[in-house]
Amino acid sequence: MLELKNLSYRVPTEDGGELAILNNISLTIDDRQLVVFTGPNGGGKTTLAKAIMGLIHPTSGQILYNGQDITDLSITERARLGISYGFQQPPRFKGLKVRDLLCIAANDENLPKNVCCNYLTQVGLCANDYLDREVDTSLSGGEVKRIEIATVLARKGSLMIYDEPEAGIDLWSFARLTETFNELHQKHDATMIIISHQERIISLADEIIVIAGGAIRHRGTKDAILPLILADTLGNCALGKECIIK
Ligand SMILES: Nc1ncnc2c1ncn2[C@@H]1O[C@H](COP(=O)(O)OP(=O)(O)O)[C@@H](O)[C@H]1O
Ligand SMILES: [Mg+2]
Repeated sequence: MLELKNLSYRVPTEDGGELAILNNISLTIDDRQLVVFTGPNGGGKTTLAKAIMGLIHPTSGQILYNGQDITDLSITERARLGISYGFQQPPRFKGLKVRDLLCIAANDENLPKNVCCNYLTQVGLCANDYLDREVDTSLSGGEVKRIEIATVLARKGSLMIYDEPEAGIDLWSFARLTETFNELHQKHDATMIIISHQERIISLADEIIVIAGGAIRHRGTKDAILPLILADTLGNCALGKECIIK
């Protein structure tokens, strides 16, 4: 179980004040749940995911994983506990091949080719074309994104966090990826937090959490939350009262 207790993340501003990016977030996520974080850009979703992975340290509050206080643990220590994270904008690794990254992720330097291929297939990549490619700028954004998701799969964590897995990915690969998330969830061997704006992914969720202004605005099932999301979108229509929705 993952528990966030009164988590805040504040940064200093130029005028000597403070900006609260996360504001007193408390949240419990049970094991093997698939939870989607959604909400407007700049709402604090990535910051929250990074706080869970240990990429940033909260200004106040606590994070507990399976009862253990992990607030002060490093990224490596959290990874050892089974927490893994796929970046919204994954880094590239010049000099490392796709196969190397998968081996590192799986912690097995002799990861068999068919196992590597299986991970790549799950994200819609043809393994033969990619295994020996370097993860450098010769790969497109969508390719790097899918390779990174494959490495998160290879890590076989107990808590997987995916930050906008749909970003930059074509429709066909996205359909394959959605299936992969669904299969993983049906197997029920990991907790998944997916940050997403896509209805197809939102539809897979046991629970949807809407984050805006650094706080949880709504949480509930798809049936309860989707209409609210749609209503919010219409309520904030940039064209105001003149806007005609056809
Ligand atoms: N270190 C930082 N300093 C200043 N502003 C930040 C910092 N980190 C994040 N922000 C701001 O906090 C807000 C939330 O960011 P983020 O968590 O990336 O949002 P989301 O993922 O929901 O789009 C954004 O407005 C972002 O610019
Ligand atoms: Mg983000």
